[in-house]
This record gives sequence, C-alpha cells and structure tokens, in this order.
Amino acid sequence: MKKDLEKEKQLAAKEAVKYLSDNKIIGLGTGSTIYYAIKEIAELVKNGLQIQAVPTSDKTEELAISLEIPIIDINTIDTIDITIDGADEFTKDLTLIKGGGGALLREKIVASMTKEEIIIADSSKYVEKLGKFKLPIEVIPFASKYVHSKIRDLQGEGNIRFIQNRPFLTDEGNYIIDVDFGFITNPPELSHALTGIEGVVGHGLFIDLAQKVIMVNNDDIIVFEK
Ligand code: 5RP
Repeated sequence: MKKDLEKEKQLAAKEAVKYLSDNKIIGLGTGSTIYYAIKEIAELVKNGLQIQAVPTSDKTEELAISLEIPIIDINTIDTIDITIDGADEFTKDLTLIKGGGGALLREKIVASMTKEEIIIADSSKYVEKLGKFKLPIEVIPFASKYVHSKIRDLQGEGNIRFIQNRPFLTDEGNYIIDVDFGFITNPPELSHALTGIEGVVGHGLFIDLAQKVIMVNNDDIIVFEK
C-alpha cells in the first residue's frame, strides 16, 4: 500500500501541538510539515491559547500573521520554550539534516535558543545514516567560489541552488550550496570542518539540538527522544 505522507505530516503536527501550553514562547519552523502545525496552532490560538511565536522564515512569518498568531521579535527575548520544526533527514540519535526549504540559518539560531526542540516528520525522513539528502550549506555570495573549492577538499560535490534560472536567495540574502558528501559517517567532524570555512554562515547539520522527533508511519506515532 502506498503511504500517504501528507496524512503522516498532519498527524505528526497534531501530536506536536499537544506539548504547547499558555504563556509560552514558541518557535515556528519552516516547510510543508510545519505548515500543518501552524494551522493547528492558529486554531488553538483562536480557542484561547496564549502564546507568542518566533518564525524561522519570512514565509512562516507571513503565514502566522495571516492566521493571527501573535509574533514576538527574537531580539527581545533570551530563550524560546518550545520549537516545532521539520527535517529533511533524521537518525535515531536525533541528528538532523535541515535546510531543504532554505531556512536553515534562522532555524538553527531558533533551535539554539530553544529549551525543547520538537521535530515532526513523515516516515520518509528516518534514515540509518545521514547523507542521501544533499547537505544545504549557506554561503555569502562573495565567497561562493572559494567555499566550493573548500567543500571539494572535504570530498563534497556541491551545486549552488537555483530557482527559476537564478540562484536561490535565503532570507538573509545568501546562496545555498547543496552538497553530496555521500553517507556522513562523522557528523560532528564535518560540522566542525564546515563551520571553519570563511564565508560559510551556516549548514544544515543539526547536532544535539533536537530533544524529540515525532514521526508518523501510516497511523502509528513513534516518538524518538534523547
Ligand atoms: C527548511 C527545513 C524544513 O524543515 C525541511 O526542509 C523539511 O521540509 P518539509 O517539511 O517541507 O519536508 O529545514 O529549511
């Protein structure tokens, strides 16, 4: 039987919003899975839930505002209570690849400020080893050629992400290089190497940032926890 991944996303979103309660600051991720969570949160807010939200992208912010979810400026707060976000791949130790939607930099900043990062996922996102999904790396345009060559030194094959025949620009005005490193055997080592390249402003390896992944497989809800 073919899996209904949209239904799995919706169920995961419904499950995640059960963790929300009044007077919390909530991080809102970006992507097609989070879309369902934002819709759920809007319903809860309509029914009286008191929260303030920190969006991880302009797109999420627009959606949240259109649904009348109260927004708070990230630069007026010190911590975020709970963030709900998606992922492109995750392993059972809760290491993630993110950035398929291009919001990795703000997503990682929000995750770093968050006490409980909850990732929601359909069953296609679970992997034994990261790396089938190309790792998004955000670079300042000025450095893109240099970063490319440094990535090759790390045995990665990357391409600048294009959309409608132009380089995709992140909300911060940067490029994304999607890089095939093969299976990533040592995520912390790769993360460290990438962070050390001048011109790289962020990458999609999320290590020790998620506390929980709620994955739905058909109708089963599976919670992976630290
Ligand atoms: C955006 C992300 C998304 O969480 C990730 O790409 C998953 O997206 P989707 O829920 O659409 O599969 O990291 O930068």
